[in-house]
Amino acid sequence: MATDEWARQIAEKIIAKSQAVAARNLHKIPYTSTDGCFDDKTTSDINWWTNGFYPGMLWQLYQATKDQQYRDMAVEIEEKLDRSLFQYNGLDHDNGFKWLLSAVANYRITKNPASWNRGMLAASHLAGRFNPIGQFIRAWNDSGDGSRAGWAIIDCMMNLPLLYWASEETNDPRFAQIARMHADTAASAFVRPDGSVNHIVEFDPATGEILRTHGGQGYAQGSTWSRGQAWAVYGFALSYLHTREASYLDTAKKAAHYFMACTPESGLVPVDFRQPADCTLEDSTASAIAACGLIEIGNCVPEPEKQVYYNFAKKLLRALDENRCCWNPDTDPILQKCTVAFHDPMRETTIIYGDYFFLEAIWKLTGKELFLW
Ligand code: GLY
Repeated sequence: MATDEWARQIAEKIIAKSQAVAARNLHKIPYTSTDGCFDDKTTSDINWWTNGFYPGMLWQLYQATKDQQYRDMAVEIEEKLDRSLFQYNGLDHDNGFKWLLSAVANYRITKNPASWNRGMLAASHLAGRFNPIGQFIRAWNDSGDGSRAGWAIIDCMMNLPLLYWASEETNDPRFAQIARMHADTAASAFVRPDGSVNHIVEFDPATGEILRTHGGQGYAQGSTWSRGQAWAVYGFALSYLHTREASYLDTAKKAAHYFMACTPESGLVPVDFRQPADCTLEDSTASAIAACGLIEIGNCVPEPEKQVYYNFAKKLLRALDENRCCWNPDTDPILQKCTVAFHDPMRETTIIYGDYFFLEAIWKLTGKELFLW
């Protein structure tokens, strides 16, 4: 089947399944699932970093179908997230994931001033996490002892578009300046000569000196966590889209070539590209995120180079569709075999951002996307 027709059919399957899923999950903020039923972070953890992905899916579905139910559900979650926006200790660098896909998505469509306000507050807090000496954005919090004040993680590349958006909205360049300084640091401190990336780099927060790297959610120190690699592919591509700074596209390509070279022939991606050879552990989220990044890189390069990235993105997505998607409308999640971290009990399960990025990639291929980054 020609790819365009294949992608169109997958988009139809997503829309058909999502309608049934939304109707029975009207007031939830899903993260994972048990026995095919979404959980709900509304009461268990309103600060959880993934709480923007379901509203992001709902806005993408609204964009494609104009079904008011999706919009109402997305707005309800955006309003619930105000409880998080006003909890200083509940905020971290993931403001981009939480508010770009909820409030800023709403603002892009409706120009709702309350949504703009949420986006700007989230961006201001994110900018406030910048360490000017080390020129990095601090990732996580700690319990007040400052022990992670020097920690930065590759995932943060995906939060930078909130800063680019804030500068575009206000004509105040400070937000974008911070984003670019962090991206420059990430390119030099996280990306290794072979194109693989570290998950965590620990800086001395007082001097900016690099102290050490950590394996983080990957297999071990010095290994290559596949979702971290995917965050680099997509994240640097996004910084290029916002700045047109050629070095970001080069870095995105470098990370992409490592990802493509290490992906097994099956197109199914391990949790860590350097995990032991006898370990079969997979992470479908890495494939979906990388596919989005590869498509965006493809959009930035001329033919025939473009096809290298598009073809690999399609290979990843087809492998997911054929092996790791559940299209049964009686179960809530789509993507299977999603893994939180190599050393985490939540392995090969379902995770909402897997579904989000799979949908986003298919929307990109079928011209349905509401660009949220
Ligand atoms: N940003 C955290 C993760 O990718 O699991």
